[in-house]
Formats: sequence, C-alpha cells, structure tokens
Amino acid sequence: EVGRRRRLIEANKIADELFVKALGSAEAQTARDFLTERGFTAEHARQFGLGYAPQGWSHLLDALRKRGFRDEELRATGLFSEGQRGLYDRFRGRLVWPIRDMTGNTIGFGARKLYEDDPGPKYLNTPETALYKKSQVLYGIDFAKRTIAKQRQLVVVEGYTDVMAAHLAGIGTAVATCGTAFGTEHIKIVRRLISDDGTGGEVIFTFDGDEAGQKAALKAFEEDHRFLAKTYVAVEPSGMDPCDLRRHKGDEAVRALISSRRPLFEFAIRSGLKDYDLDTVEGRAGALRHAAPIVAGIKDSVLRPGYERELAGWLGMDPNVVHRAVAQASRRQA
Ligand code: CTP
Ligand code: MN
Ligand code: MN
Ligand code: MN
Ligand code: MN
Repeated sequence: EVGRRRRLIEANKIADELFVKALGSAEAQTARDFLTERGFTAEHARQFGLGYAPQGWSHLLDALRKRGFRDEELRATGLFSEGQRGLYDRFRGRLVWPIRDMTGNTIGFGARKLYEDDPGPKYLNTPETALYKKSQVLYGIDFAKRTIAKQRQLVVVEGYTDVMAAHLAGIGTAVATCGTAFGTEHIKIVRRLISDDGTGGEVIFTFDGDEAGQKAALKAFEEDHRFLAKTYVAVEPSGMDPCDLRRHKGDEAVRALISSRRPLFEFAIRSGLKDYDLDTVEGRAGALRHAAPIVAGIKDSVLRPGYERELAGWLGMDPNVVHRAVAQASRRQA
C-alpha cells in the first residue's frame, strides 16, 4: 500500500514537471495569454506552479512509460483515459493547476480548456484515485494552511483563479473545492486546522452570482450547527468572482469583499424569508417555522438571543413569541 501510494505521488510529480515545462513552449502561448488576461504574470504562474498539458495523446503516457510505469499503475493515477486502442493522456491542450495535499505532494490536477469550442467541460479534474479524494481536496491548502492556522480563518472561494487572486490580494487563507461542493469532509479538515472544538475561528464563503454555491454551503452546515456560528458569507453584488474583481477593480476590492462578510445565519434566515408574505399573519407564521430551527441551531448562548431579537425584528413579531418558537424547535433537535 505504502509502495503504491509512493508510486502515485511519483507519477503526479513527473506529470507536474512535464506540465510546468510545457507552459514555456510555443504551443502554450494561448495558456500564457489566458493568464495575462486574468491579471497573472509569469512570476505568478511560477509561484502557483501552473503548467500546460500539451495537445496530443501520449506526451505524459510516453514519459511515464519511459520511467517504468506499467499500464496497471498508470490507470490508478487518474491521469489517463482509456479507449479501444489503450490509454491516452487525459489532459490535452489545457492550462493546468497542480492540486497538492497538506504536505505539498501533488495529488492531482485541475485543467481549463483554452478555446470555447474545445471538447469537454470547461474544467477537467483528476478523477477519484487512491490519492485524490475530491470530498477532501482543497486547492491551495498547501500554501494557505499556515496562515489559516495562524489567523484561525478560512476563506472559501469557488475557483482556482479565485484562490490565486485572493492570495495575491493579501487574503492568505483562501482555498477552493475542486469541482464539488464544500461538504462535511472539508469541514473536518478545516476544523482540525483552525480549532479543536469547532467553536473558534471563522470560515468565510464567497460565491459568485448563482445560488448553487450558497445552497451547498447551507446544506453542509445544517449538519454542524456549532460551526455555523462562525461562518460568514461574502457576496459580491456585481456577481464578479474574486479573480474578475481583482482584474477589474484591484486588490483592495478583493479585500473589501472579504471584509463585507455577513453571518451565514443571517443569510440563511433571510434568504428563506423571501418565500413568505410577511404582510400576512400566515406568512409570518410560516416564516417563523422556517427560521426557528435555524436559530435553534445556534449553540452559542450569547449569539442565540441576539438572533432571536433580530428575527423578531425582521418578521415584525413579538420577541417572546419568537423566543418560544425557537425554544420549541430546540427541544425537537435535542
Ligand atoms: N468547475 C468544474 N467544472 C466545470 C466548471 C467549474 O470543476 N465545468 C469548478 C472549477 O473548480 C472552477 C469552479 O468550479 O474553478 C468555479 O466555476 P466557474 O465560476 O464557472 O469557473 P471560474 O473559475 O470562474 O472559471 P473562469 O473564470 O476560468 O471561467
Ligand atoms: Mn459559479
Ligand atoms: Mn439540525
Ligand atoms: Mn472566473
Ligand atoms: Mn467564477
């Protein structure tokens, strides 16, 4: 097992080196232009270890075979697809981000296509392997972990370019999930990093315009109310993601976005309230039934009464009624 794992790490390291080298090739001009257009210099590309997967079917395949990797081992790396004529390079003609574990081993890649009409999805990632478990992977964790532990803060952004932009703007705690929602496995990792008991530190989510990411975060934290108390959401009104924000408005705008965070509770409660007509008694009662369990999930005994009062204000209801509803919801959760 240990030997197998070492072999996978070795294959990914070789791939990493091949991709980095290829980013300097003539063929990779489009990839370099893409980075320039995003506000990233060649030095930034080096800093984040970016690479380019060449076009063609067997650059990496040949390189690894030359290093003695057998097909069975190659299959296990997730770096290849397989057709009737055998294995071929999975990543072709794409800009590549190395995805690393805590200790800095490359365990997989995220790869973006460079032309709109290239086949396949915009981003292609390493599939599940013995090394790469997407439910646990956080892009940037290798270079963010020290700052995360020191500041007891984690900023979750959506994409690879957003992680880069955040770090360059001075947000050294930014990471991103890779093609999956932030889930309970990620929470465990974060918790280990920023605190032992889940009560300390803060987690800030930034999302672009769509609501999918927001819903996902709420769902993840429904399972973990203690943690929820320290969770914030930063929404950029223009819908720009941190990468675009940095490019169009500069580093300061990225920092301002993070500073503008609001508690996820507030967000969770208020976003649900939109579904009710608060001008009617029935609407307010429905909204209270929606919100009471969320507030009941706040285990912090200082925060909770505060949110009960807030909720009463948002609903235009008697604080005592809200308090009783929350207490009831709390007993149901116990
Ligand atoms: N993603 C993915 N597969 C896709 C689209 C997105 O895995 N087909 C993941 C990627 O990790 C991506 C993130 O979701 O970085 C956010 O998606 P999106 O906002 O669409 O991508 P951006 O990173 O903003 O991409 P770009 O600015 O390069 O278009
Ligand atoms: Mn999106
Ligand atoms: Mn619950
Ligand atoms: Mn983007
Ligand atoms: Mn985006």
